[in-house]
Amino acid sequence: MQTVYVLDFGAQYAQLIARRVRDLHVYSEVIPCDISAAELAALEPAAIILSGGPASVYAEDAPTMDPAIFELGIPILGLCYGQQVMALALGGEVGHTDVGEYGPARLTRGCASVLLTGTPDIQTVWMSHRDAVTRAPEGFMVTATTEACPVAAMENPQRRLYATQFHPEVRHTEAGQTILSNFLFAVAGLAPNWTMASFIEDKVAEIRETVGQGRAICALSGGVDSAVCAALVHRAIGERLTCVFVDHGLLRAGEAEGVERVFGDAFGIPLVVVDAQRRYLDLLAGVADPEEKRRRIGGEFWKVFFEEAAKLGDVQFLAQGTIYPDIIESGARKTGGKAATIKSHHNLIPFPPGVSFELIEPLDHLFKDEVRELGEELGLPSKLVWRQPFPGPGLAIRILGPVTSEKLELVRAADAIVREELDAYNARLFEKTGERNSAHACWQYFAVLPDIKSVGVMGDERTYERPVILRAVESADAMTADWARLPHDVLAQISRRIVGEVPGLNRVVYDITSKPPATIEWE
Ligand code: XMP
Repeated sequence: MQTVYVLDFGAQYAQLIARRVRDLHVYSEVIPCDISAAELAALEPAAIILSGGPASVYAEDAPTMDPAIFELGIPILGLCYGQQVMALALGGEVGHTDVGEYGPARLTRGCASVLLTGTPDIQTVWMSHRDAVTRAPEGFMVTATTEACPVAAMENPQRRLYATQFHPEVRHTEAGQTILSNFLFAVAGLAPNWTMASFIEDKVAEIRETVGQGRAICALSGGVDSAVCAALVHRAIGERLTCVFVDHGLLRAGEAEGVERVFGDAFGIPLVVVDAQRRYLDLLAGVADPEEKRRRIGGEFWKVFFEEAAKLGDVQFLAQGTIYPDIIESGARKTGGKAATIKSHHNLIPFPPGVSFELIEPLDHLFKDEVRELGEELGLPSKLVWRQPFPGPGLAIRILGPVTSEKLELVRAADAIVREELDAYNARLFEKTGERNSAHACWQYFAVLPDIKSVGVMGDERTYERPVILRAVESADAMTADWARLPHDVLAQISRRIVGEVPGLNRVVYDITSKPPATIEWE
């Protein structure tokens, strides 16, 4: 597969670069910047992109790269810090400018440029730098400037080396995708033939090669990532994959049944369903501290899982739906190459003594929306593929205070109503706008059960029951969120239905706090 490798200098945007390249139908992966020229050549890159980075090239521990990479004859595009690294390595100069440039800047084109072909003479680009290239290396032409930046873009077409101080991968750079296309297609001569279908083909071949005649196991959580991973691995090795679903009783209404229906019935994957509801209730009895709940649930999951795995006999591989953001969160990085993956979060899987599996993580370069696209391509039901985020510890962290089966029933019933009403609200918006996450669409919504009671009156009777908190937020990535400005009649309908249909609940309150300062979940 023709692959563009992004050398990561610690950039905030490294994965975004790879992502934008994939959007242009060329496969791309991020690798660390300290790879040697020989190792990189062995990967046979179709092209190389040098990412930005937070450091100054003159800082003591500034990340560098093997300068022999510039001699490989492979097309290279340096971005921001990547441009500065290229300039320094090839004899140019990098200086401290008096004023840093952060945010939008006006770029003026100079002489004819392959990289900037088809972009306006004056255009808005996104900058984020203090140092800048002050003199381009010999053999390079300066193709654009900004007020603060004498070499905002440079190129050496003979050597197929190109660079910009600005970030074409960021949406705020007006002609960003044109510039990346120019590099991929006009400079590197690549073909835009990478699609999710071809990704499936390649991954299936790779998994078959790795697993050989062996067997694999995969833990289904009910979530999107593990489901897509299982479907993909199943496509590769068929019945030699067994899925294990631990029903800890903390899922939402209908979810456990959904897993059995999709994987057991529709896909025909050998599926072991473990009924661990009692075990989890005992484990959580009397536990009020949120972190303690998380710890117990996480630890128990792997215990149950490995007990089941042991019963299956000789299984060598563990398939995991790790996606790229999981890797960033664990602060880990890839060494490049297919098998040589080092990620610290692997250590989080508590393999029991004497147990070991080789890991297969076919989604580890993808973003969530790419995983969804892949899921659709694999034929998973759209309800599952578009499922909203749901925390691993499940309803246990939406019940404030100790978890009991009665509280689980209450929160599950209220949550089902919230989802039904807001699914319908989102569907109406989708119909109107044609966008799945349009402005004011709810991104995540659920019910939370606090550990209090309040007085109410129903019919002629005084009640003393629990309230439920409605949480509904707009967000793109859960990093920040705002409470959804739901129409009053939608709120009224949810409140009416919950109090009317769920005995034991007599009040509904709406959480109107953004993140920050609050979080999306309550625990
Ligand atoms: P917070 O509450 O931190 O949540 O704003 C951000 C997003 O992460 C989800 N979340 C979790 N997901 N395990 C998970 O897999 C967890 O322990 C967990 N806690 C929060 C949350 O639903 C939201 O989408």
